[in-house]
Amino acid sequence: MSALGSENHDLGYPIVVAPSVRAALTDFLARQGGRFVVLCDANVVSYGHELTNGVRDRLAFIPARLGERRKRLSTVEDVLRALLRSGADRKTLVLGIGGGVSSDLFGFAASMYMRGVPYAHVATSLVAMVDAAIGGKTGVDLPEGKNLAGTFSNPVAVFAHIDALATLPYRNMREGLAEMVKHAVIEGGDLFAAILAPGDMPGGEPPGEGPEVTAGVQRQGCLIGMSHCSTASFFPCTGGTWCVRWRCGNAPWLWSN
Ligand SMILES: NC(=O)c1ccc[n+]([C@@H]2O[C@H](COP(=O)([O-])OP(=O)(O)OC[C@H]3O[C@@H](n4cnc5c(N)ncnc54)[C@H](O)[C@@H]3O)[C@@H](O)[C@H]2O)c1
Repeated sequence: MSALGSENHDLGYPIVVAPSVRAALTDFLARQGGRFVVLCDANVVSYGHELTNGVRDRLAFIPARLGERRKRLSTVEDVLRALLRSGADRKTLVLGIGGGVSSDLFGFAASMYMRGVPYAHVATSLVAMVDAAIGGKTGVDLPEGKNLAGTFSNPVAVFAHIDALATLPYRNMREGLAEMVKHAVIEGGDLFAAILAPGDMPGGEPPGEGPEVTAGVQRQGCLIGMSHCSTASFFPCTGGTWCVRWRCGNAPWLWSN
C-alpha cells in the first residue's frame, strides 16, 4: 500500500482503490492487451473520458442512461446490441464505469455477450465501491422484484475511483454508508466495536480537516478506503492497513483497521 492507494488480490482479481485510478487502469489495460469497449453510466461520462481518453486500443465509448428503473432486461438488450455495433468480439474486454446499477447491468451484459467476455469495473458510487462491484453478482430487476435475473460472474478487476465521490449525490453517499454499517454489524469484531465506541480513533488523527473526511469498510477480505472531500486522504493505520472513517455533523466515526 502507498499513500496514494491500495491494491488487493484476496478475491483472485485486483481491487484497486485510489483517489484517481487512471494510472492503475491504464497499466491494467496495457497488461491485458487487446481491445476494450467502455460502457459508461451517462451521469459519469466525464469520469469515463478522464480515465480512458487516449488509452490505447479503446474500441468504443458507449454512454448508457441507467438508474434503477432502467435496470431491466430491455436495457441489457440495448447494451448487447451496442456492443455488437462497436465491433466487440469474444476477446474484447468490457470496461464498465458507474455505480451499482451499472456494475450489475453491464456485468450481466458482459457475462452474456457472445456467451461471456472479460469484464472490469470502475466504481464511481460508494455502494459500488463497498459492495455491488465486488463479488461477481450481476443482474437486473424484473417487474416482480429486484435482482431476479442475473449471473454469478467475477470481474477481472475492480477500480474504486475515489475522486468521483466528490460529485455523488449525498443521498447515494448515505446509502453507501448504511451498507458499510450493515457489514460492520455482520462482521462484528473490531469494526463493530469501532461503531460502538466513536471517538477513540486508532492510528491518530488523519491529515487534512473538514466536516467530511474518509470512510471505508472491510469486506470479503478487502479493505476499501474512500474520501468524500478532495483534501482528505487515505492514511495508514495500526496493523499495516488503512485507517478509514467518516464524519458528518454529529454522526459517529466509522473506521476499520
Ligand atoms: N451485485 C451486488 O452484490 C449488489 C450489492 C449492493 C447493491 N447492488 C445494486 O446496486 C444498486 C445501487 O447502487 P448505487 O447506489 O450505486 O446506484 P446507481 O448506480 O443508480 O447510482 C446512484 C446515482 O448516482 C449516479 N452516480 C453514480 N456515481 C456518481 C458520481 N460519482 N457522481 C455523480 N453521480 C453518480 C448514478 O448515475 C445514479 O443516478 C442497486 O440496483 C442494487 O441492487 C448490487
